[in-house]
Amino acid sequence: MTEKTTPWELIEKLRSTGELSKEEFTRLIKNRDLVDREKLYALAREIQKEHFGNKVYLRGLIEFTNYCRNDCLYCGIRRSNKNTDRYRLTKEQILETCESGYKLDYRTFVLQGGEDMSYSADDIADLVRSIKERFPECAITLSVGEREREDYQKWFDAGADRYLLRHETANEEHYGKLHPSELSLKHRKDCLKNLKDIGYQIGAGFMVESPFQTAEDLAEDMVYLKELNPHMVGIGPFIPHHDTPFKDFKAGSLELTLFMLSLLRIMLPDVLLPATTALGTIDPKGRELGILAGANVVMPNLSPGDVRGKYLLYDNKICTGDEAAACKRCMDRRLERIGYFTEVSRGDSPRVHRAEAEQ
Ligand code: 5AD
Ligand code: FES
Repeated sequence: MTEKTTPWELIEKLRSTGELSKEEFTRLIKNRDLVDREKLYALAREIQKEHFGNKVYLRGLIEFTNYCRNDCLYCGIRRSNKNTDRYRLTKEQILETCESGYKLDYRTFVLQGGEDMSYSADDIADLVRSIKERFPECAITLSVGEREREDYQKWFDAGADRYLLRHETANEEHYGKLHPSELSLKHRKDCLKNLKDIGYQIGAGFMVESPFQTAEDLAEDMVYLKELNPHMVGIGPFIPHHDTPFKDFKAGSLELTLFMLSLLRIMLPDVLLPATTALGTIDPKGRELGILAGANVVMPNLSPGDVRGKYLLYDNKICTGDEAAACKRCMDRRLERIGYFTEVSRGDSPRVHRAEAEQ
């Protein structure tokens, strides 16, 4: 590749070969002003439609604890934030939340929480088993951070199907600027590798325009994701939280988030790509624009009314005042207006179906 390669030629190369080098991604990201966005989104949509038609997968998010042992500098529920009103849901409350979600057609429950060690590995395994007993055709996704491989194995054996753990940034130095020294990128990557080896469908991902992020860092994220080849990639703009050390940084842009979503769809054609709540927070039409740039998953909040306003990773989070039923209706309507509809099924990664067919 010579320096004369145009950004669009790089996109075509990504489309035809499925990869670019770190240098090429960097150049593409730095010169993205030259890319015709409508043309880029149309290409991403063409690939999205090839694999998923106009179906958008639904995942019901249950934020079951906002206690966290970690102190990530960007996150509103970091342990140093003494202003967070902490809560934990009981097993019964979680099961009731699944029940109401089930009635609203949710067939995937995402159990997300801070790294709250008051739930032992056995507690979580028991929770997974109970949900599976009651809703056997539903998929369970866990998202509770870094744990021992044995714990991940135990939860998988109990019936958990998927695990979300964003890598946050694939650059060591940048990782160090976003996290306290006791956390390491290496450990994060080891966890993702373990999860994949155990047999989970995994999700990784990063924030767009988090403090100190460079085009090179984003390029490294893309190269890392290509290599990891996760089933899902969750990305959304960084948004400052007023009680964190990053309170004065500015939020990530719609523009770059949409650009990265399209590149991800082109690089990993059948990946599950959520249009995230953070994207809907920085722009009233953010999630719809995300879908139109190649995303194919939405994760509305199912958490019970009294705790929804307490799981605040960043400021101005949307949907905190809406009941699950209202949120689902709102989401259906939003998607319908742009020509998509929500799918009532577990919505596994197409790769899972292919693997089953080969058995
Ligand atoms: N802005 C945007 N996203 C955030 N997350 C945490 N804090 C913020 C923030 N201030 C994201 C992280 C985490 C996921 C659950 O939420 O990427 O992995
Ligand atoms: Fe939650 Fe619109 S999607 S209120």
